[in-house]
Amino acid sequence: MKLLLLCLGLTLVCTYSEGEMEVVKNFEPSKIIGEWFTILIATGQKERIEENGTLRIFLEYIDVLKNASLLFKFHRLDNGQCLEVSTACNKTDQDGIYTASYDGENLVSIADVKYDEYLIILMKNKNNFQVILLYGRQPDVRKQIKKKFMEFSDRHGIVKGNIIDMTKVEDPCLQA
Ligand SMILES: *[C@@H]1O[C@H](CO)[C@@H](O)[C@H](O)[C@H]1NC(C)=O
Ligand SMILES: *[C@@H]1O[C@H](CO)[C@@H](O)[C@H](O)[C@H]1NC(C)=O
Ligand SMILES: *[C@@H]1O[C@H](CO)[C@@H](O)[C@H](O)[C@H]1NC(C)=O
Repeated sequence: MKLLLLCLGLTLVCTYSEGEMEVVKNFEPSKIIGEWFTILIATGQKERIEENGTLRIFLEYIDVLKNASLLFKFHRLDNGQCLEVSTACNKTDQDGIYTASYDGENLVSIADVKYDEYLIILMKNKNNFQVILLYGRQPDVRKQIKKKFMEFSDRHGIVKGNIIDMTKVEDPCLQA
């Protein structure tokens, strides 16, 4: 029993630690500045990507602030209405890993990137769930990139049914 509890404790610590996070080598923050579109979102907590969900987000752009924080500007449907959100993510000691306060405290890592094409971000929430996002420079990305994302999500234990294709979701902020 003691051993079981110890393992459980270790698992919880491990899902929220920088050391465990996959991150691209030689990340260059200035190269992710600019416009991005949300393509796919995967998460262990499906209700968060359902209608009115806090993580069913449409990314608009990413900027790098003077203090080296990343600014994410996005919007989503909240209670049936368009909600604009911007959130700053602070740098950590490790390149490509940031902190974010959104739906609780998170560690965010730049898991994979091709600066002119796509970006995969892995977000680990302290409340023990993960979110993986695929963003594209264009409103859609190549099939191979989606496949790569599916495999990445699978490796992180997120099943296909918990992945939403945002290219097929009506943008709540476009109607006006
Ligand atoms: C960096 O600046 C942004 C915007 O002013 C702010 O929200 C964030 O907390 C700052 N980060 C640090 C580490 O000071
Ligand atoms: C989203 O919020 C709107 C307004 O409150 C509501 O009409 C709609 O049913 C909600 N959608 C879901 C899936 O709960
Ligand atoms: C970023 O750093 C600022 C200044 O230390 C702090 O006030 C803010 O809460 C931090 N934000 C995150 C998301 O860690």
